[in-house]
Amino acid sequence: MESLVKALETFRGKRVFVTGSTGFKGSWLCNWLLELGAEVAGFALPAADDAPLFQQLRCEERMRQIYGDVRDIAALRAAIGDSRPEIVIHLAAQALVRLSYELPTETFDTNVTGGVNLLEAVRDVPSVKALVFVTSDKCYLNKEWEWSYRENDELGGADPYSASKAVAEVVFSSYQQSFFATQQGFAAATARAGNVIGGGDFARDRIVPDCVRALTAGVPIILRNPDATRPWQHVLEPLSGYLMLAARLLASADSARGAWNFAPDAQNVRTVHQLTNQVVASWGSGEVRIERPREAVHEAQLLMLSADKAKIQLGWLPQWDFKEAIDATVDWYRAVSSGKDPIEVTNRQIAAYVGATA
Ligand SMILES: NC(=O)c1ccc[n+]([C@@H]2O[C@H](COP(=O)([O-])OP(=O)(O)OC[C@H]3O[C@@H](n4cnc5c(N)ncnc54)[C@H](O)[C@@H]3O)[C@@H](O)[C@H]2O)c1
Repeated sequence: MESLVKALETFRGKRVFVTGSTGFKGSWLCNWLLELGAEVAGFALPAADDAPLFQQLRCEERMRQIYGDVRDIAALRAAIGDSRPEIVIHLAAQALVRLSYELPTETFDTNVTGGVNLLEAVRDVPSVKALVFVTSDKCYLNKEWEWSYRENDELGGADPYSASKAVAEVVFSSYQQSFFATQQGFAAATARAGNVIGGGDFARDRIVPDCVRALTAGVPIILRNPDATRPWQHVLEPLSGYLMLAARLLASADSARGAWNFAPDAQNVRTVHQLTNQVVASWGSGEVRIERPREAVHEAQLLMLSADKAKIQLGWLPQWDFKEAIDATVDWYRAVSSGKDPIEVTNRQIAAYVGATA
C-alpha cells in the first residue's frame, strides 16, 4: 500500500494546474503543492473580499495565478495551454447548496458547463497526464438512509447544487468512455468528498465560518438545521486523497480511473449540533441557540459515504477524528487572529497531519 508520504514525493518539480485556486480548498491545496516543490498555476475568479485565505497564504506571489471564468472556454484553454501542466486538479465551482437556490442558472453553468469546458481544454493539451475532477458527496441520490453511499450508487440531486454535481459526474463519465479511454498517456478520475472544515474558511452559510464569526463577535451561534448529519472532515483529508489519486493516475493509470469517495469513518459522521458544541468546547466559550426557520429550503438530513475503495486500493486513510479536526480548525483561527503567520500556521498543521500518517 502506498503511503501518503511516498505519494507526496511525486509533486516535486511537477507542473500542476489548479482551478478554484482562490477558494478554501484551492488555497490550502496550492500552498501544500508549493511546499512540496511543485510549479503551481491557478485559475479562478478573484477571491471575495471576505474570503482572504488565498491572500493570507500569499499564494499570488508564490505561484502563477490566472484570473478567469471556467464558463469562458477560450480563457480556460489558453490558461491550460500556456501552463503546460502535467497534472490538473479541477476544484472551481459554485460550491454552496443554499446559494444554488438563489442562483440555479449560475450554479449549473459553472459546475456543469464549466466542467465540460475543463474536460475539453484538457483534451487539447498533450502535456496533461492526470486529471482529478472534484465533484461532491452530494452527487448521490440522497435516500436519507443510514447506509453509506458507494461509488457505484445512483446519482441525483434534489437541490440545484447537488444536481449540478451529479450531472458533472455523468458528463465526466461520458468523456471517460468517449475520449479518455483511448487517449494514450492520460488518465482521469473524479473525487467525491464530504463536508470539509478547517482554518481559513470564511464562506457565508457554512457552519464553521458562521461559528467563528459568532464566537469572535461574542454573540450566540444560531443553528437553523441542527439535526442534519454530515461526514465532517478536516480539509487536509480530501486534499491528501486528491494528491494520492493524482499520484496514482500518473504511476498506474488503469488502477485509478473512475470515481473515488474520500470520507471520514462512521464515528465522525455527526450532527450540526454536535459539531457546534465541539467548536464551542475547543474555543473555550460560546453559546449555541437553535432557531428553526418557518420556511426552510430543502437540505439533505443524513449523508454518509464509504471510503472503502480509497482505503483498500489507494492506501488512503482518514487521519484526524472529529475532535482533532475541530481542534486544528479552532487552533488555526486563534493562531492567525493572534498575529501568527498564516503560512507557518498552515504548514505546521500540514506537517502534523503528514506526520500522523507516517
Ligand atoms: N467545502 C466543502 O465542504 C465541499 C464538500 C464537497 C465538495 N466540495 C467541492 O470542492 C471544490 C472546492 O470547494 P471549496 O470549499 O474550496 O469552495 P469555494 O467556494 O471556497 O471556492 C470555489 C472556487 O471556485 C472558483 N470559482 C467559482 N466560480 C467560478 C467560475 N465561474 N470560474 C472560475 N472559477 C470559479 C472560486 O473563485 C473559488 O476559487 C468545489 O468543487 C466544491 O463543490 C466542497
